[in-house]
Amino acid sequence: MAISRKVREQMNNGSAIRKMFEEGFELKQIHGAENVFDLSLGNPLLEPPPEFRAELARLAADETPNTHRYMQSSAGLPEVRASVAEVLAEESGVPFTENEILMTVGAAGAINAILRSILDANDEVVLIAPYFVEYTFYVAHQNGVSKVTGTDENWLPDIESLEATIGPRTRAVIINSPNNPTGVIYPESSIAAISAAIQRAEEKHGTEIYLISDEPYRKLIYSDAPYPFIFNHHPRSIVATSHSKDLGLAGERIGHIAVNPGDPGKADLINALIFSIRTLGFVNAPALMQRIVGKLQRETVDIDIYRKKRDLLYGALTDIGYECVKPDGAFFVFPKSPIPDDVEFVAQLKKELVLVVPGVGSGAPGFFRASYCVDDWVIEGSIDGFKKVFAQANS
Ligand SMILES: Cc1ncc(COP(=O)(O)O)c(C=O)c1O
Repeated sequence: MAISRKVREQMNNGSAIRKMFEEGFELKQIHGAENVFDLSLGNPLLEPPPEFRAELARLAADETPNTHRYMQSSAGLPEVRASVAEVLAEESGVPFTENEILMTVGAAGAINAILRSILDANDEVVLIAPYFVEYTFYVAHQNGVSKVTGTDENWLPDIESLEATIGPRTRAVIINSPNNPTGVIYPESSIAAISAAIQRAEEKHGTEIYLISDEPYRKLIYSDAPYPFIFNHHPRSIVATSHSKDLGLAGERIGHIAVNPGDPGKADLINALIFSIRTLGFVNAPALMQRIVGKLQRETVDIDIYRKKRDLLYGALTDIGYECVKPDGAFFVFPKSPIPDDVEFVAQLKKELVLVVPGVGSGAPGFFRASYCVDDWVIEGSIDGFKKVFAQANS
């Protein structure tokens, strides 16, 4: 009984997927890593751009005093926030200043700080399935309650169901586009409809509801359509993002929060966020990484490499006969399982030494997630297994 019942329960709930990871590790030991085709992990494959190493080397040689101390504000270094604000203002057309930017320990740290700042016990957060598995835990950390609403056949939010799910205790709706696990990008029309639904609910219940947009894949987009930002659609809107994927820095834990400059309650919110970043124990985002990404706001990894991998995996799966919405971003495909039980399908694929993740953990049973942020040989080697299990399912 040394650990909390809540954490034990959460760990047990996540155990099916964890067990699969452990078994995948065992498979690699038994058969050799080169014979196991692991599409289960979303670990960014591409190395940071050369500018990262150049900046890192420059900073390593910099002996300016106070460089590695606590910083004045838990929001982060003013010059870094100013450089994030400048590029975000250009991209979004919204007049950001450093005052609306807070540097965070990745997108995960950002979302936890946001939820810490806005939730009281039993407040509700609406998630749109399929969603990033960890959200439910982040909400539970603040003693909040996750309420799940659905999507249509193209994985776009079902607005009627969203509106019906928002109640008097709803404090936030979290969206994630490009989406993990579907790779789908919500178009401007969806963002507008979500915002309108939130505003009708605010009016109905006499409440204020935040729209939180989790955007760590925002720069991993393979279509030409401009990215629809949330800021012009809902005043109480907050973006959480990171450089885990676009600069390949997942292990370095660096991201930021952008609060809508047009939010009438932004001063209070920003003070709460600064307090939460500090007292959640982050204190501030890593100083060295802040300085580096401040200089790299216009850089990304080579997106074309992910686009080619998307085409390779999506093309192979749909040629076999898998039904799948074509992803326009991130680095996942989310096809329909050829048998209704996605966990059983994943187990059958594992016998062919192909590892993927069942959709049930993302609130979407009957589907599975395959990541293409892997070497081409992993994608190519997985095809026979996908073919065999598909044929079995249809025999
Ligand atoms: C949708 C989504 N949100 C947040 C995160 C957390 O990212 P970070 O490494 O920036 O904390 C991930 C990581 O995979 C993700 O897929």
